[in-house]
Amino acid sequence: MTVLLTGGAGFIGSHTALVLLEAGHEVVIYDNLSNASRESIRRVERLTGLSIVFVEGDIRDTKTLADTFATHNIEAVIHFAGLKAVGESVSLPMAYYDNNVGGTVTLCQAMAAADVKTLVFSSSATVYAESRDMPLAESAPTGRPTNPYGTSKLMIEWLLTDLQRAEPDWSIALLRYFNPVGAHFSGQIGEDPAGAPNNLLPYITQVGVGRLPRLSVYGGDYPTRDGTGVRDYIHVMDLARGHLAALDALKARQGVQTWNLGTGHGYSVLEMIEAFERASGRPLPYDIVARRPGDVAECWANVEKAERELGWRASHGLDEIMRDAWRWQSDNPQGYRG
Ligand code: NAD
Ligand code: WQD
Repeated sequence: MTVLLTGGAGFIGSHTALVLLEAGHEVVIYDNLSNASRESIRRVERLTGLSIVFVEGDIRDTKTLADTFATHNIEAVIHFAGLKAVGESVSLPMAYYDNNVGGTVTLCQAMAAADVKTLVFSSSATVYAESRDMPLAESAPTGRPTNPYGTSKLMIEWLLTDLQRAEPDWSIALLRYFNPVGAHFSGQIGEDPAGAPNNLLPYITQVGVGRLPRLSVYGGDYPTRDGTGVRDYIHVMDLARGHLAALDALKARQGVQTWNLGTGHGYSVLEMIEAFERASGRPLPYDIVARRPGDVAECWANVEKAERELGWRASHGLDEIMRDAWRWQSDNPQGYRG
């Protein structure tokens, strides 16, 4: 099957492109390169020995989308494209609603015009209401996100649900990712944030290679086992395989399906630092500082529904995550730029 990956040059999209190619699918990547480079696509092609069709385009551009659907025999779309920096979204809310929500509306209209009605969407655990009850199942209530990024994800879940209700021949998967981390085991593709990373893992590995001086641990007084925040870190290759499983599962189902993609285990920030030190053999300098506004103490997934309905589960543990994240960072200290 030919699958269109919006945002496919980015971190999760590039790993998913590799998994789809290895499973025998054809891949068309549609990306405006606002947070990615073509080098990720070249490397996926080199790793697989297979080629990818690349279209440089914006999901808000109706004409380029229509041309892309007209030229390629696309049967399904995995929709990664969007802006994802939580802090930036607070100062640039309109950019987030325009790209993420507006872009999704335009994409769905182009899909409908081309009669392509199978869609897998990159949602986030950030849509869940704050809760002390862990793990979070898909049936847990969604909340009022604390930032425009999170709100945009929830709005997209709602608009896709409304679309499918009005046009029942759509098949839609809402994949709620927990904390995607790690890299392909080759160290050839990985996460390459522009500027200082917002997320823990790339921050740790950039301190490890000396691009940044020290890690700030946000909060040492949470009601957790060691006082630092606990999250469900999932290897990006497991996450990528989850998209393949979701595409397969959608063949048998119409409607909107929601699946958590996590591991079902939580690790604290200090446990992540220790795992990094084990993987790299280097000490990681850090300071414990004030909490970061908007952070919750703990968050991890109930993955039973994904296991049961997708026949999928995460298989890579924390040490593999760190080994692969470190291989990517140490082999590519400046990411795709050098
Ligand atoms: P990423 O920034 O690496 O990838 C997103 C890609 O979309 C980039 O290649 C960017 O150039 C492209 N893009 C952005 N706006 C676009 C537009 N208007 N038109 C076309 N292309 C556009 O991010 P990622 O980590 O790979 O995340 C992929 C998706 O998963 C995003 O929707 C993100 O919100 C979601 N998600 C990510 C995480 C995470 O922690 N990485 C967690 C939950 C959900
Ligand atoms: C993890 C833990 C921090 C950086 C975010 C988004 C979420 C989703 C994934 C897209 C927390 C601590 C972090 C640092 C630290 N993205 N930390 N020092 O906040 O769980 O989720 O990314 O959908 O929407 O909110 O991930 O990696 O930022 O933080 O101590 O420099 O690491 O406090 O406990 P988070 P994160």
